[in-house]
Amino acid sequence: MNVNTQKLSSARFAQATDAFVEIFTASVDFDKRMAQQDIQGSIAHATMLCRVGVLTQAELDLIVNGLAKIRDEIERGEFEWSIKQEDVHMNIEAKLTDLIGIAGKKLHTGRSRNDQVATDIRLYLRDEITSILAELKRLQFAILTLAETHAETIMPGFTHLQVAQPITFGHHLMAWFEMLCRDAERLSDCSKRLNVSPLGAAALAGTSYPIDRHLSAQLLGFSRPSNNSLDSVSDRDFAIEFTASASILMMHLSRFSEELILWASAQFDFIDIPDAFCTGSSIMPQKKNPDVPELVRGKSGRVTGHLMALLMLMKSQPLAYNKDNQEDKEPIFDTVDTLLNCLRAYADMVPHLVAKKENMYRAAKQGFATATDLADYLVRKGLAFRDAHEIVGLAVRLGVETKRDLSELSLSELQSFSALIGEEVFDVLSLEGSVASRSHIGGTAPNTVKAAIENARQQLN
Ligand code: ARG
Repeated sequence: MNVNTQKLSSARFAQATDAFVEIFTASVDFDKRMAQQDIQGSIAHATMLCRVGVLTQAELDLIVNGLAKIRDEIERGEFEWSIKQEDVHMNIEAKLTDLIGIAGKKLHTGRSRNDQVATDIRLYLRDEITSILAELKRLQFAILTLAETHAETIMPGFTHLQVAQPITFGHHLMAWFEMLCRDAERLSDCSKRLNVSPLGAAALAGTSYPIDRHLSAQLLGFSRPSNNSLDSVSDRDFAIEFTASASILMMHLSRFSEELILWASAQFDFIDIPDAFCTGSSIMPQKKNPDVPELVRGKSGRVTGHLMALLMLMKSQPLAYNKDNQEDKEPIFDTVDTLLNCLRAYADMVPHLVAKKENMYRAAKQGFATATDLADYLVRKGLAFRDAHEIVGLAVRLGVETKRDLSELSLSELQSFSALIGEEVFDVLSLEGSVASRSHIGGTAPNTVKAAIENARQQLN
């Protein structure tokens, strides 16, 4: 055992902490990231203590001024963090006592690091979710603008990655927009639920001081004090909810990325990703790699990993607080960073995506994308859908054998499959006619897409 004689964890200990254990159990290297929230929480706690008569006004003034000084020092990067003080909470408290003496030692009255840390993480996540939502909105606006430009741009829609039916690029982009709307809702919802104050739960059982939990909650902008002291200090479900929402968002970005990567390939050649968002190869001079989408696709795995880490961290923990919970910080912080970075990269990149309209159009023409339209046409002429399906299948086979699209078959060839087919069938077989006919809510008709964009823009503003 390597005994460190510099510091005793508390007067209860006869022996100093083992030097490695001190390093092993310290969290200040990462939880100092919540320093601003920690100070905010301490000021609210002290203000409440003064209001209920536990601290004098003079003591409160000393505490508030001391904490303000510490905040400035941290902001300037001059604060000296020490792992001897284990975590962000004790570092700040020790420094406060250095600065103001005995009043500093009174700050922790009626409080524990257990309710303190639960408060800090909630404040921290509430702040970060606000930034994430702002970045998400920037991306959503970028998508709307691109969708507007391409409300009439025809491309193939896919199922099974096989050409299925013609759609507009604007419609495809609006699908991404919708997914992101739900992601924003999930994050806001999570933010609402985490916005309750654990302060006053103290270590686990509450405190014997005449505290006013409504006041400290109100001072911190929480909607109310939490209902149960044990629950307040132990559960991290709000962080799990946040990483779950983040994982779903990243899953969406990963699907978006996958499509951009495919579309930028020589085989699809539907889009151009500007040089600023790509890099070259160190060996192959011709390469232009879609790095940003690839990296975002890859980073989705890491966020889901954090979700799993937090679920496993929480699972089987007995009530109330356990030191296990110190492990919640790094997954939370990395989830926040990853999300903000990915959203930023996407919000910057999307406005510069260039659609290669002719290639999209050609691809839509190649895959018998209007076969369903022909079947629907025959149904309108009185055939049952299954019979129409059969007839169109035969026409497609002729197209495959003679390497022609349905619209390139002659009227007499088409009529050989069904006498119901007339000259006007070519309106139905055109890509423009096909998309225009899907004009119901949620359809791909250019006018419908424009209306959807307009509606979305109003809701977002
Ligand atoms: N650093 C700790 C954490 O992150 C703070 C709470 C410590 N509480 C305790 N009883 N050891 O959870």
